[in-house]
Amino acid sequence: MSRCAAAVLSLGILFQLSHGLEVNVTKDGKLCLYANLMINFSVSYEGKDNKTHTATFELPPTANPDDSKCDETASTLTLKFGEGHSWSMDFSKKDAFYQADNVTFTYNLSDSTTFPNSASNETRNVTAKPQITEVVQDTCYSCRSTDTIEAPMVNMTLWNVLMQAFVINGSKSGTISPCDADKSTTSAPPTTHATNATTVAPTTNGTTPAPIPTTTPTPTLPTPSDGTYMLKADENSTACLLANFGLRIRFEQGGQFQEMNLEPNLTKASGFCGVNSSELVLESAAMTINFTFTNDTKKFHLHALNVTAKTGSGEFTDVNTNMSVWEAAVGSSYMCNKEQNYTITKQLTLYTFNLRVQPFGVKKGGFSTAEDCLGDAESFLVPIAVGVALLVLILIVLLAYFIGRRRNMATGYESF
Ligand SMILES: *[C@@H]1O[C@H](CO)[C@@H](O)[C@H](O)[C@H]1NC(C)=O
Ligand SMILES: *[C@@H]1O[C@H](CO)[C@@H](O)[C@H](O)[C@H]1NC(C)=O
Ligand SMILES: *[C@@H]1O[C@H](CO)[C@@H](O)[C@H](O)[C@H]1NC(C)=O
Ligand SMILES: *[C@@H]1O[C@H](CO)[C@@H](O)[C@H](O)[C@H]1NC(C)=O
Ligand SMILES: *[C@@H]1O[C@H](CO)[C@@H](O)[C@H](O)[C@H]1NC(C)=O
Ligand SMILES: *[C@@H]1O[C@H](CO)[C@@H](O)[C@H](O)[C@H]1NC(C)=O
Ligand SMILES: *[C@@H]1O[C@H](CO)[C@@H](O)[C@H](O)[C@H]1NC(C)=O
Ligand SMILES: *[C@@H]1O[C@H](CO)[C@@H](O)[C@H](O)[C@H]1NC(C)=O
Ligand SMILES: *[C@@H]1O[C@H](CO)[C@@H](O)[C@H](O)[C@H]1NC(C)=O
Ligand SMILES: *[C@@H]1O[C@H](CO)[C@@H](O)[C@H](O)[C@H]1NC(C)=O
Ligand SMILES: *[C@@H]1O[C@H](CO)[C@@H](O)[C@H](O)[C@H]1NC(C)=O
Ligand SMILES: *[C@@H]1O[C@H](CO)[C@@H](O)[C@H](O)[C@H]1NC(C)=O
Repeated sequence: MSRCAAAVLSLGILFQLSHGLEVNVTKDGKLCLYANLMINFSVSYEGKDNKTHTATFELPPTANPDDSKCDETASTLTLKFGEGHSWSMDFSKKDAFYQADNVTFTYNLSDSTTFPNSASNETRNVTAKPQITEVVQDTCYSCRSTDTIEAPMVNMTLWNVLMQAFVINGSKSGTISPCDADKSTTSAPPTTHATNATTVAPTTNGTTPAPIPTTTPTPTLPTPSDGTYMLKADENSTACLLANFGLRIRFEQGGQFQEMNLEPNLTKASGFCGVNSSELVLESAAMTINFTFTNDTKKFHLHALNVTAKTGSGEFTDVNTNMSVWEAAVGSSYMCNKEQNYTITKQLTLYTFNLRVQPFGVKKGGFSTAEDCLGDAESFLVPIAVGVALLVLILIVLLAYFIGRRRNMATGYESF
């Protein structure tokens, strides 16, 4: 399954992916556009009896995406189905965002199975503007709620939508940009005004409609990939700052917690190496993180953290300038291989995976000896172990002494 989908599933959002249409559009053998979605169509048309008829049908899972295409700044998802019908969505990208510009639906009224008794045999086109804007690049747009796009004579209801346009490097993002409807409703049933087929669902008394399961979101994205970041004092020297870790942030925006992984492949490192202070700035399309390390002569630690994240609903930024984590001796590196979390502020938590940093005194471009975060636990254990060993040794010596003395005494008596 796709990482996109896996991420959403693990977010606890219930997706009936198997019923949706999943499309992987590739360019030069690399994934460039991903979509998984469901659409209900409702089309009004004139019948031979001069009456208005309404046809309702779903996007079939057999729809053909072969006419889809990707370009540098524009791409199109095209789904052809049935007797000459097609649905398409255009995407464009600008700065750090992408959006859906137009939806075009073409339907063939000659298809008498879909449009029985149609007075016309034409093929018609409608265009509308969807509300899919400002999706952060390299994130998956996700909308479980229904979204009805209205066009003349046609309503298109989309739901369980997961898509990413402008996929970078052929791999889907593990980060989700949820639509506003998903954010504001935790479990509200979809409010459709598109279905003229309300009679389809007879309300049988006694059996209340099953409520939509409200799975409490336990957000767990896939483990972030490890990145290695390096700073040099100038282009000819070896590294002066080294960092290696997988990174995730969890932050609160508009009353909702969100998680984001840092994608090392799309992250730029900058900053400076100082004597008393060094700074590492990691920047991707979706987030910027400033790490400020302090050298207090013998030891260093992470002193300040400034995080900025861009989401569909704006920018999140938070800073803590009074931290004291990742402490180790200047001239060595700090290491923590296990997953760690740090509460930076009430709104922000940092997660690290396979962490190793050395912000000062890097020699020959490589990490120096590491001080492990397990050290604390071990430094308790080591003296205890040594103490126990000593105690045992003393007992053995004492025992040997008493046995020896007894023997001596025995032989002493014998010699008498
Ligand atoms: C879509 O249509 C199917 C059948 O035509 C119906 O069962 C389903 O409830 C509709 N979904 C929405 C969200 O309108
Ligand atoms: C249907 O419309 C056509 C032309 O608009 C008209 O000639 C015809 O009388 C109408 N038939 C009925 C049953 O209204
Ligand atoms: C429209 O439907 C008719 C009848 O099914 C079919 O013969 C025709 O080829 C279709 N038009 C297109 C453009 O596919
Ligand atoms: C569509 O209908 C018109 C008139 O009703 C007819 O002349 C024409 O041949 C039809 N076209 C198709 C493709 O069936
Ligand atoms: C589309 O939705 C609007 C608003 O609910 C409704 O008035 C209209 O009849 C619908 N049109 C179709 C073709 O279902
Ligand atoms: C369903 O229950 C309501 C109120 O309890 C009642 O008025 C209605 O007649 C019932 N409908 C059917 C189909 O039993
Ligand atoms: C780096 O080395 C090149 C050639 O060895 C030299 O021309 C250049 O000035 C040096 N750059 C710096 C910043 O020292
Ligand atoms: C990062 O890039 C490398 C090489 O280009 C590639 O092998 C790796 O799969 C990429 N990882 C991700 C998470 O995109
Ligand atoms: C750390 O700070 C001390 C005192 O300011 C300085 O002597 C030492 O050179 C610094 N270490 C590094 C690696 O910059
Ligand atoms: C670093 O700190 C020491 C003592 O705190 C100070 O004497 C020294 O001037 C500082 N060095 C720099 C480059 O700021
Ligand atoms: C944190 O970063 C943001 C954006 O990079 C910047 O505007 C802000 O001034 C920084 N705050 C601090 C305290 O460094
Ligand atoms: C943070 O880590 C501790 C143990 O290291 C764990 O018990 C806790 O659940 C973690 N918190 C979060 C929010 O992941």
